Amino acid sequence: MPESRDSERALLVWAYRKRRPAPGILPPPDPLEELKSLVKAAGGIVAGTHAQALSSENPATLIGSGTVEKLKETVGEKEVNLVVFQNRLRPNQQAALEKELGVKVLDRREVILDIFARRARSREGKLQVELAQLSFRMGRLIGGRRDLSRLGGGIGTRGPGEKKLEEDRRRIRTHIRQIERELSTVRRTRALHYRRRREVGFPVVALVGYTNAGKSTLFNRITGSDVFVADQLFATLDPTARRFSLPGGGPAILVDTVGFIHDLPDELREAFLATLEGIGEADLLVHVVDGSTGMMEENLSSVDGILSDLGFSGKPTLLAVNKSDLTGEEGRCPTGSIRTSAVTGSGISKLLKEVEGGLWRHRSAGNGSTRRG
Ligand code: GTP
Repeated sequence: MPESRDSERALLVWAYRKRRPAPGILPPPDPLEELKSLVKAAGGIVAGTHAQALSSENPATLIGSGTVEKLKETVGEKEVNLVVFQNRLRPNQQAALEKELGVKVLDRREVILDIFARRARSREGKLQVELAQLSFRMGRLIGGRRDLSRLGGGIGTRGPGEKKLEEDRRRIRTHIRQIERELSTVRRTRALHYRRRREVGFPVVALVGYTNAGKSTLFNRITGSDVFVADQLFATLDPTARRFSLPGGGPAILVDTVGFIHDLPDELREAFLATLEGIGEADLLVHVVDGSTGMMEENLSSVDGILSDLGFSGKPTLLAVNKSDLTGEEGRCPTGSIRTSAVTGSGISKLLKEVEGGLWRHRSAGNGSTRRG
């Protein structure tokens, strides 16, 4: 996404507990790297980062007063107008930090909510995000009202709009109830849509995986459609389904899903899980992982964890290790997985053959009942 003139210049902060790494254990990946991608995906510019060892938490500001001073200097020097914490901030801490630093302060959860607000496309996606933002801000209102208007717009303030936040809590609750009612209507329509899809009887394959793995690119390559693709996190917020042909010529449906991410804000968890409901009707999952990132193992286990939470770990699943054009044949590729490049097309025909074989095995094992409705 191009940087606009009014893009916010963000300073990213991570306060970590000092811990001695166990012998032989590699240091964990730097969470600031992921936070950088999140802030960029929300339209911000990363002006700097600051990692601070924390011996004990300051209940008022999380970090100590010396660090607050240091950050204040950086804010001035680097013309920062937004400070984003990797750590969760309590409402009182956020308000105190904003007062001290004189700029807007957000935590990772608010950045994720903002990205979801930017990316939601379907009516359901938009409603889910609005609901998540209202619940989140409701918590903030209870915990200590911030004068958000003083801090201007931008990241963390998009979505339902600031005016609503200043309404009293009762009106927000009424609004939440309205959205919930509307959502249940939208969900009924979606259930009908799924039923029709089942009645058609085509096998359904769902692409799942960590955000930015290349699911939408793969989806477009396989189905020949033009889903929004961006080198940003969460480019896809709403599941999209298209018909495609298996190598043997038979028709099937491919479903693209929202990217997984670890430590999702509680308020978004439900919205996220709801968009994944479609996975339930899939006969086969293709777990797409970015083989070119140093976070491959972590991303694989985050996705496996969520699938298992959703009760889908028993579903037949193929693993596609994507972005092979960046890693060559050297990149790690677990046994049984297929190396693909959604960009060059390498490995896609092998993947489709495996998909066809997987569907065939699934059906001949007597699991075709889902198709009979
Ligand atoms: P979310 O919607 O955030 O879940 O992302 P996604 O998994 O759908 O990823 P998407 O298809 O949007 O791709 C993310 C970025 O990776 C884009 O810049 C793609 O062009 C790039 N990409 C996808 N597949 C490949 C690949 O095989 N090789 C390379 N080099 N880049 C790829």
